[in-house]
Order: sequence, then structure tokens, then C-alpha cells
Amino acid sequence: MTQAMFPALRLRRTRASGWSRAMHRENLLTPADLIWPLFVTEGAGVEEPIASLPGVSRWSVDLIAARAKEAMALGIPCLALFPNTPRELRSDDGAEALNPDNLMCRAIRAIKQACGEGIGVLTDVALDPYTAHGQDGLVDGAGYVLNDATVEVLVGQSLNQAAAGADIIAPSDMMDGRIGTIRMALEGAGHANIQIMAYAAKYASAFYGPFRDAVGSRGLLKGDKKTYQMDPANAEEALREVAMDLAEGADSVMVKPGLPYLDIVRAVKDRFAVPVFAYQVSGEYAMIEAAAAAGAGERDSLVLETLLGFKRAGASGVLTYHALHAARLLNG
Ligand code: PBG
Repeated sequence: MTQAMFPALRLRRTRASGWSRAMHRENLLTPADLIWPLFVTEGAGVEEPIASLPGVSRWSVDLIAARAKEAMALGIPCLALFPNTPRELRSDDGAEALNPDNLMCRAIRAIKQACGEGIGVLTDVALDPYTAHGQDGLVDGAGYVLNDATVEVLVGQSLNQAAAGADIIAPSDMMDGRIGTIRMALEGAGHANIQIMAYAAKYASAFYGPFRDAVGSRGLLKGDKKTYQMDPANAEEALREVAMDLAEGADSVMVKPGLPYLDIVRAVKDRFAVPVFAYQVSGEYAMIEAAAAAGAGERDSLVLETLLGFKRAGASGVLTYHALHAARLLNG
């Protein structure tokens, strides 16, 4: 019926051959779109596989530069670092975050020494890998995460990472006012060119479990993070969060998790026309791996299709544990 009435309208025409599909492709995924999160642990010559993140390991500082070089050779432009702080160095005030020789700072220095400007280093700012209670900030007697007192510590943590050579400071804590306070502190300390990527719309998500295993905070965490991370029901509020972080001086913003929040990525891109990144988080990675292991889909295709989805939604890039694998596929 349709073809009889509109014989010239055939959207399948441009799909009929490979060259034509390539020519009409609207979005492109390249290794330059990928940011690779890496977990750092104490010791020498240590690779510790993370059970809930099959294929992902924690690396000791002496092995981390080799990982960075591998990523650099594949065209991945940036790494994101997370420390698994030894239990005895975790405290209620997260003071280890301010130690110039903590795991994070040693890893930054090792990578910058090995790779220089060849690859960027993004560092997570939040206290959860350093606190004995697993919350991202300082808590009061009732367990409430204090905003302004936490921001003060986050400023110190940011300056500590900046001094060690971080290229992008990425606050993931969701305290109010931290972007502006950190920006001013960086300017004051002579770090005008260090970027800030704000975890602007970060949701209180069930998809962070394997990450908490990786940084060793899962068993420590008391309660949840709903008084600071966003309600998954909210979209308008995400736009307010982004507006605030941009007004305070963020160079780019992030939406996290990724796949369940592609609508937020698109809304942020359309409204603000700024670089927006998405974090395909640990639970999403585990879900894809589990699906592939169960035979529900072909792994390489699942990986590339989900990553391309972020580009289509308007993301400038994606933080993903599949970065190395995806870059190999894309270069292949
Ligand atoms: C900590 C932080 C989290 C992630 C990145 N930074 C966990 C959390 O907020 O509990 C999650 C990343 C992932 O699940 O891959 N502030």
C-alpha cells in the first residue's frame, strides 16, 4: 500500500551497500572519545583482578605507567585514576587525601614522568576512597554528610592532585559550591590551565557496586548517598546542577551513570552546548560482560554499540572500563 502510494520513498536505498552506509553514517566513535578509568593499589609488581569487574584489575604504581603507555599508543587521550587506599590509612576525616605521597599522587607522577603531554590524567575528587565510613565527605554525629566542611577538604585534595601533576580535576562528590571554590583555589595556586570536569549530574545509582569493590569502600559504606547524589527520577534538576557548575567555572561536565541517563546527556548538550562526557559506570560494564558471557549478545558488538550510543546522544566522550578493548577494535 505505502509503496504503491509513495514509490520514491525508500529509506532502505542508502542502506543497501556498505559504502553507502559508511557515507551516510551520522556519528563516529574513535579512540579519542575514550577515557580509561584505572585503579591503583599499594605494593610492587601487583595486579589484583576485581571479581565483580571481570577483566579489570588494580595495578601497583610501578606497573601503572606501562598501562598508560598502552592506552597512549592506542590513541586514548586521557586516563581517570582511582586509589584503593589501604584500610589502615582510612580515617573519619579522610586525611590521607591530603598526603602529597598518597597512592593517587604517586600514580599521577609515575604516569606524567613516563608519558608527559602524551596522555591526560584526570583525577577524582571525593573522599570515599579515604574515609573509614565510605562516604564522599565529612559526616556529623547523625551520619549526615556536611557540605561546607567537606568542600574545604576537597579544595585541599584538589591542590594536592594538581601539585602532583593532574591535568583535569574531576569532583565526583556532589557537594554544593565545590566547583567555584576549587577553581579559585587552583587559580590562586598558579594552576590556571588545570581543567575541571564536574561530575555535574551524578545520580544515587545502583550501578556503582563493582566500583566500590575496586576502591575497597563497599564493605565500609554505612547507609547510602541519597542526601548528596541525585534522585534518578529527576531531569530538570540535572540541568540546574549543570548550570551551577558551569557558572562556577567547570570546563566540561559529566553525566553519570551512562546508559540509563542518555536523555540527560542529550538535554545537557542541547541546552548548554558545552563539552559533556558520560561515565559508563562499573555496573554497566559488568552488565555487558555478564550478557556476553551468557551468550545474550556478542561482546565486541555490544561494547561498540553502547559506546556509539553516547556519541549519538551528544557526548564528547565516554569514561569506560572497555576503553582499551574498544580502542583496539576501532584501530583494528
Ligand atoms: C566516588 C565515585 C564513585 C564512582 C566514581 N567516583 C562511586 C560512588 O559515588 O559511590 C562510580 C564509578 C563506577 O561505578 O564505575 N565518588
